[in-house]
Amino acid sequence: MTRGKRSPVTCHLKCADACSHPVPNVSSNETFRDIAAAALSRRAALGVAGAGALTLVAGPSLLAGTAAAAPAPAVPEIPIPAGGLAIPEGGDPILGKATDRNLPFTAIGPVAADQDTFTVPKGYKSQPIIRWGDPILPGAPAFDGTKQTAAAQACQFGYNNDYLDIIPITSTSALLVCNHEYTNENIMFPVAATPAEADEQKRIGMNAHGFSVVELTRTGPGKPWTYKPTGKLNRRFITSTPFAVTGPAAGSDMLKTAADPTGKKVLGTLGNCAGGTTPWGTVLSGEENFNGYFRAAGTTDSEKRYGLTDRATSRNWESLEPRFDARSADYANEPNRYGWIVEIDPFDPTSTPRKHTAMGRLKHEGANVQVAPDGRVVAYMGDDERFDYLYKFVSKNKMRPLTSLANRKHNMTLLTEGDLYVARFIGDSPAAQIDGTGTLPADGVFDGLGVWLPLVLAGTSQIPGMTVPEVLVHTRLAADKAGATKMDRCEDVQSSPKTGKVYVACTNNTDRGKVDKEGPTEVNPRNANRDGHIVELTEGLTGDADPLATTFRWNLLLVCGDPAEPHTYFGGYPKDKVSPISCPDNVAFDSDGNLWISTDGAPSTLNQNDGLFKVPLVGKERGRVQQFLAVPTEAETCGPVIHDRDGSVFVAVQHPGEDGSFAEQHSFWPDFVPAGTVAPKGQFAGPRPSVVQVYRG
Ligand code: FEO
Ligand code: CA
Ligand code: CA
Repeated sequence: MTRGKRSPVTCHLKCADACSHPVPNVSSNETFRDIAAAALSRRAALGVAGAGALTLVAGPSLLAGTAAAAPAPAVPEIPIPAGGLAIPEGGDPILGKATDRNLPFTAIGPVAADQDTFTVPKGYKSQPIIRWGDPILPGAPAFDGTKQTAAAQACQFGYNNDYLDIIPITSTSALLVCNHEYTNENIMFPVAATPAEADEQKRIGMNAHGFSVVELTRTGPGKPWTYKPTGKLNRRFITSTPFAVTGPAAGSDMLKTAADPTGKKVLGTLGNCAGGTTPWGTVLSGEENFNGYFRAAGTTDSEKRYGLTDRATSRNWESLEPRFDARSADYANEPNRYGWIVEIDPFDPTSTPRKHTAMGRLKHEGANVQVAPDGRVVAYMGDDERFDYLYKFVSKNKMRPLTSLANRKHNMTLLTEGDLYVARFIGDSPAAQIDGTGTLPADGVFDGLGVWLPLVLAGTSQIPGMTVPEVLVHTRLAADKAGATKMDRCEDVQSSPKTGKVYVACTNNTDRGKVDKEGPTEVNPRNANRDGHIVELTEGLTGDADPLATTFRWNLLLVCGDPAEPHTYFGGYPKDKVSPISCPDNVAFDSDGNLWISTDGAPSTLNQNDGLFKVPLVGKERGRVQQFLAVPTEAETCGPVIHDRDGSVFVAVQHPGEDGSFAEQHSFWPDFVPAGTVAPKGQFAGPRPSVVQVYRG
């Protein structure tokens, strides 16, 4: 049962029916620790005003040696990404000036949930760049959905693309990097006729997970991209790809298995959800619903807290590879080797991808890096489960400018060592005014203060009775002890490159306020929260947005839903002039600092297809939610990338036609091969998760 959110199929395949199982966080967690009280003397905090802008230290432009750079340093002979996260004032030479090509649009209306169309505003076109099964490595055959093999899939674009970035190299070349979160065998394959065929389908599924890196080319700025099937940097990461484990828990007994007595080498990455591109041009991604891939005893506190159970998994990989059956002593620790932030270097096809234990083990939604004024890097991370937490990692060491390969190599060590915190939120209105309906309290805003509770500081555990490796492997248990605030499913978390304010998408939590569950808090103010909300968090109490601060202010920017409903709030903007929005999931920024939000769940709450929405954050337009696009039926909008200076927007369309079957497909997007007909070479008579570009034209 999906409890008012997504389709039952998505729940089963993506989240292992998380909503149908007991909430794994049963900690009481109510005691406000002394540290928080000391740090958050409300009187002291409220006496400080101001909202100064943050000066981001972004380091030299990644375009070193071009007109954008200050003194030209030695330029490394590698394709370091242009643009990256640091776009110089006045315009990026590749992506153009802000005034050259931006993204003016009139909001589209809601698109009914049964429409199998990709909808864009007037004046824009859309076109898939790459689809599930498109060949990207040498020798890869053209996609044939009726004769798919594991060997072919290992050389083709994977399934269910989620996190996405399009990293420009020159004005006519770029890298597409995305992950593949999970598979839906029901619509990928006919029912297997033999056990051997069933096993091959499992192997195809394994090879359709992971990551893809694909080179793109185009004829000029503002033109649509096409992918290069033989690009030299093209790469697939699949379930058998070796990953190196870094950080304090690497090599610990908790990570050792019969196949890996070192505890430092893991095969594959699973359940990759959102992510972030670092200032040094690598890509981070969160291993989210990893528990759904393992059968386990389900008896330890940690197994229970991470939702590991003794049930056959939906894909039954445990029948093929013993490591997916964690009931055996040999592989009891295999689930501990997932649930991490992974980092890949898309610019080096020979590099070994890594899993960073210093950033903790959760159902990681993703991670986004911000650079502090002193050069340390900070990563914000959500744990996407009902009543779980928001985290922050602060590196021990400082970022170096990207002026040499050696400096880039140094930067790639930053996420291996540092401090880990979890968030505690305190509302500033009386609890009696937070009645669970979403009605604003007397001060007119859901807001308050917060503190980052340390879990690991300077290499030392802050949790009595837990070692550093234990804190990092069983991070949820450590955060329970610290007294973190239970949130309504933190998804993507990202800071504005303009202001440094941090935006947290809380997608929904239909269990809030139920019997024996936590009721409304000011930061999660609605019971049976179907539509979600966006938290706006400003680090520090002085308004300077210093990401190293251990205290913060917060307020709700949006309380999502149908604006006609009284329990919604849109940053104070008139509610009759905004687009309906539900279940915010991924966030991104354009170069003017507007927030873009993609959704996952609108079909079941608003009976409309999921979409992508723009929200200005400052001035008279603050809170004006405007829908930019809608994805096809039963799909989720993922990985928004906003190249407004290029007039382009990119999204990953995940799980179109999710609730169908191979015999009765619900979506035929994007090939639209009619049901019952033979698909031409390279096409499919059913849905194909794809990366889509939207451009002016
Ligand atoms: Fe994969 Fe939390 O969404
Ligand atoms: Ca308040
Ligand atoms: Ca997500």
